Amino acid sequence: MDLAVQINELVKVYNGKVRALDGVNLTVEAGKSFALLGPNGAGKTTLMRILTTQIKPTSGEAYVFGLNVVNEGSKVRELISYIPQEMSVWTDISGYENLLVYAKIFDIPHHEREKLIHEALENMGLIKVKDDLVRTYSGGMIRRLEIACAMLIKPRIMFLDEPTIGLDPAARKAVWERLNVFKNDYEVTIFFNTHYMDEADLYADEIAIISQGKIVARGTSEGLRHSLGGELITFTVEKTPINAEMLEEIQKLHFVKDISIDDTSISILVYNAEDSLPYIMDILRNEKMPVSKVSISKPTLDDVFLKHAGMRFEEKGRISDVVHTRRMIRRG
Ligand SMILES: Nc1ncnc2c1ncn2[C@@H]1O[C@H](COP(=O)(O)OP(=O)(O)O)[C@@H](O)[C@H]1O
Ligand SMILES: [Mg+2]
Repeated sequence: MDLAVQINELVKVYNGKVRALDGVNLTVEAGKSFALLGPNGAGKTTLMRILTTQIKPTSGEAYVFGLNVVNEGSKVRELISYIPQEMSVWTDISGYENLLVYAKIFDIPHHEREKLIHEALENMGLIKVKDDLVRTYSGGMIRRLEIACAMLIKPRIMFLDEPTIGLDPAARKAVWERLNVFKNDYEVTIFFNTHYMDEADLYADEIAIISQGKIVARGTSEGLRHSLGGELITFTVEKTPINAEMLEEIQKLHFVKDISIDDTSISILVYNAEDSLPYIMDILRNEKMPVSKVSISKPTLDDVFLKHAGMRFEEKGRISDVVHTRRMIRRG
């Protein structure tokens, strides 16, 4: 297995007192889309700044494709792209001109520039607006331009800090669809920070949840949710009392973990609700038990967070945050 990132016991203390990272251990497989998910202040940006060689850890080690981020910083920088949370393009020039500036900063040979810039604009869906001033772009277009700039050097890993903060769901989706084109075409590993649970849920192959400088859970979205014990199917039935033999028969299904009844409802804990439902329905039908309502409650990543961090996740991006961030993006 090729590891894009490997982190051992990483600690970062700011000013001798703020313990932003408190012994982080983590690996990220190459070619995956990885989300570091956590509330504001959890340590996400700190970790990304260390991995991108901008700041040094207090103790512990971190490697990017086997290179030590402290001792081999310049080699690491050749393999990575980094898109900070703050805006990283100029608004008073066009999208095309931004790419040209980056191509020069990255020292891309003259004869390759046009082709690479065109490719990046094409992949990010920005051809039509390439000559417009970035000032006129939407937040989503700006994010896509930043990704286009970051892709010019064809990095092996791209770090994105809160890539879609302040974007509406449609713009967010567009950013991710484009990012995935790069991920698949260039086999780039994507490492992103987010405090949006649904973003991690939808777009990450693997998730690590960070809380107060510690990784508290790790896995796929589905794995994390299932680790809580399963999904609950609740049937509201129209005939009482509920037949005990029928309950026994349901209990015998190998995927049923638990069953409880309450007056007119039967609650069944299973590993996977969608897969289990037809088998249970068959039994209810055979017993001629009329069902008036079926509901499925699936654990969310918030439930996972609650279990591991002992508290609920912060409310998702407050409207005032979103408005503020948008203004920042527009202003530049
Ligand atoms: N340069 C800094 N100096 C002092 N404290 C900092 C600095 N940067 C971040 N912190 C603190 O470290 C903790 C983690 O911050 P950060 O890594 O920015 O979290 P996140 O990106 O998850 O919101 C917070 O308590 C924050 O206030
Ligand atoms: Mg941050």
